[in-house]
Amino acid sequence: MDTPIRVGVYGAGRGAHLGSVAQKVGMKLVAICESFGPLLNRVRKKSFAGEDITYYRDYDKFLDHDLDAVIVANYATEHTSAVIKALAADKHVLSECMAMFTMAEAVQLVEAVEASEKVYFFAENVPFNAQCLEMTRLYKNGDMGDFLYGEAEYIHPGTPQSLATLVSGPSHWRAWIPVTYYCTHSLGPVMMVTDTRPVKVNGFLVPYDFNDPKKTGGISKRDTASILMCTMDNSALAKIMPCASLRDHGYRIRFCCNKGTMEYNQGQPQLRVHREPFDFDPPKEANTFYMPEFPEEFKQAATTGHGGADYFCAYYFAKAIREGSTPLIDVYKAIDMTSVGILGYRSALQGGIPLEVPDFRDKTVRETYRNDDWNPDPARHREGMPFPSILGDIPISDESMKRFDELRKAHVEGMN
Ligand SMILES: NC(=O)c1ccc[n+]([C@@H]2O[C@H](COP(=O)([O-])OP(=O)(O)OC[C@H]3O[C@@H](n4cnc5c(N)ncnc54)[C@H](O)[C@@H]3O)[C@@H](O)[C@H]2O)c1
Repeated sequence: MDTPIRVGVYGAGRGAHLGSVAQKVGMKLVAICESFGPLLNRVRKKSFAGEDITYYRDYDKFLDHDLDAVIVANYATEHTSAVIKALAADKHVLSECMAMFTMAEAVQLVEAVEASEKVYFFAENVPFNAQCLEMTRLYKNGDMGDFLYGEAEYIHPGTPQSLATLVSGPSHWRAWIPVTYYCTHSLGPVMMVTDTRPVKVNGFLVPYDFNDPKKTGGISKRDTASILMCTMDNSALAKIMPCASLRDHGYRIRFCCNKGTMEYNQGQPQLRVHREPFDFDPPKEANTFYMPEFPEEFKQAATTGHGGADYFCAYYFAKAIREGSTPLIDVYKAIDMTSVGILGYRSALQGGIPLEVPDFRDKTVRETYRNDDWNPDPARHREGMPFPSILGDIPISDESMKRFDELRKAHVEGMN
């Protein structure tokens, strides 16, 4: 029996969930760090009541705890410094999305991981849902032929009410992050199913919608949607839509290959595999629809979040630690997946010009980006830095702000 990996969680929202998933793959959750009192209390009293877990509000003190590994699930724009600190404290790291917020941070991240002897695993989970795993199997078997064109949409609209459950105020990343940035749930499946990486990106934006009361009635400054047209390293094109707030919900992922097409649309959870009769003698059935299942050894995954996908992140993280093997989603893939969101925004603000997606496996490429701290954080805004929307600084009305404060207060009171 393996000695349990002692794991701590940094950020008790998503992090608490990942902590409980980590327990299912044989890790021992021993510490949680969370600065927001009501959330810390709720997790202590409800999610992990009676368990032998030490709670911290301070990350440095948390890192002094006797831990083998840290799940970094703090604010999405602040992962890099947290990961670097954890590696420096000799901990393995499972990092939530995004991997970094600027290209300069990508350089810092890759160099910190390379300098460390610890595992860095990027917790991009969508490639591990049952449909994506089946598409990976079909593609790797050679059943679909070569990847030519793909689409991957992640659509997640919100309301002023739902936003108030997720953000503490207008400075919280979810209230302003540009729509291209949260791109790994769209590009991740493309990269992992087809084993390709992006080499070029062109970005396009659907701006903030002043005619949508669900937008103007809230405090989000985010545009509506974006398309990132990625050229992959096998010359395929992948049209990805990161976390858009359209009137739809879920994932739509499609791969057109030279022996057929496979498609997953969350509105219809069955996978569709299409083949042209002229490609086969005797002809195959043109369309097959089926619900893929997890392989037998992963049946337990179905009981965890995001259709079981979260289980695989924890499982492969633990496996890389135990075996000392290369993580399935390593730092190079993490940077590839995340940088198209940053560079795609930069492209969109310049009318969709093509921008190279650097491959940080090549150390010489890094110099171009070492000091590139271009970022849309309103709190760090200065000349030369973009606003989070292509339309500039989106105003929040006094009325929307007042409404948010009321909704937020009610949400926080309800946490007790
Ligand atoms: N892969 C997925 O499906 C998925 C789903 C949800 C969230 N996420 C990711 O998980 C991360 C966390 O998201 P979330 O939904 O929990 O929302 P969030 O970003 O609001 O949560 C971050 C948590 O970290 C805590 N925190 C931040 N700075 C801290 C500090 N200095 N000390 C102690 N605690 C601190 C905050 O209080 C907060 O509770 C984000 O990166 C997000 O992108 C991923």
